[in-house]
Amino acid sequence: TVEVVRETPGGKAHERVRVHPLKTGACIIVVDESRLRELELAHRQMGRLASMGFMLASVCHEVANPLATLQSTLQVLQSQSHIPPAALQNALAKLSGNVGRVLAITRRLNAFSRVDDKSPMRFNVDFAIDEALAFFRQERWGVNVLTERRSDPEGIVLGYPGRLQQVFFNIFMNAAQAMQGRGTIIVVTRLVAQRSVEVTITDTGPGIAPEDLPRVFEAFFSTKVAGEGTGLGLAICYEIVHEHGGEIRVENASPRGACFIISLPFGAGSV
Ligand SMILES: Nc1ncnc2c1ncn2[C@@H]1O[C@H](COP(=O)(O)OP(=O)(O)OP(=O)(O)O)[C@@H](O)[C@H]1O
Ligand SMILES: [Mg+2]
Repeated sequence: TVEVVRETPGGKAHERVRVHPLKTGACIIVVDESRLRELELAHRQMGRLASMGFMLASVCHEVANPLATLQSTLQVLQSQSHIPPAALQNALAKLSGNVGRVLAITRRLNAFSRVDDKSPMRFNVDFAIDEALAFFRQERWGVNVLTERRSDPEGIVLGYPGRLQQVFFNIFMNAAQAMQGRGTIIVVTRLVAQRSVEVTITDTGPGIAPEDLPRVFEAFFSTKVAGEGTGLGLAICYEIVHEHGGEIRVENASPRGACFIISLPFGAGSV
């Protein structure tokens, strides 16, 4: 069976072509799956929108706060004819910080809201981890962090490598930030009972306060100083992992550090 994508006047046509040898000659069956693809895509887009809709109230709240600060700072500036340079600098820094926060939130949500029209693919999850590590090493936070890896050639999953790469990247960034840029991240992939591919990511940072453990996947939950974190990183990881039919959880590691466990359905052999 081969899948064929053709450009047609009406758009892309997705066809599945199967060849059955007969006693003499062969029988070729072509199934037009274009409509199915469209429905699949619409379904994924709806799922993504639904999870964003769920976040919408808190998004509005989080965007309204910096905008309100912007507004009041601007009003103060407008009402004064002579502003001392130090006060002006101060006000501008405040404006810039708040604009930065709104931009950070919209960028994150924008990246999350895009649905690509590719079909899910089968790949080794270590591929997405390697890509995420390569990006992570280029970040200011990543340059001095050591990484230890254990991969599994059987770690096949079905889904979107770019999306899972985003998940791993967010978790690596959090780990590096918790370790203040110095420490070790240990990434272990293993196939469990031929059913799920489990990735554990452990760092050597301070770990997570017990009262925060149940909240880290909440949208906008952040312990970082204002302006440093949107609190969307892990909320997005949660959505992406669930979109792949998987689970993500966190616990503190012994003797120290946080340990994120991602479990994805084993992708080899399934439809
Ligand atoms: N490896 C870790 N070690 C300790 N605390 C962590 C770790 N990972 C996440 N956290 C905690 O979980 C919170 C939420 O993380 P999340 O990635 O969602 O948001 P953020 O990192 O604060 O903001 P952003 O991702 O936008 O930079 C963090 O603020 C931090 O308190
Ligand atoms: Mg983060």
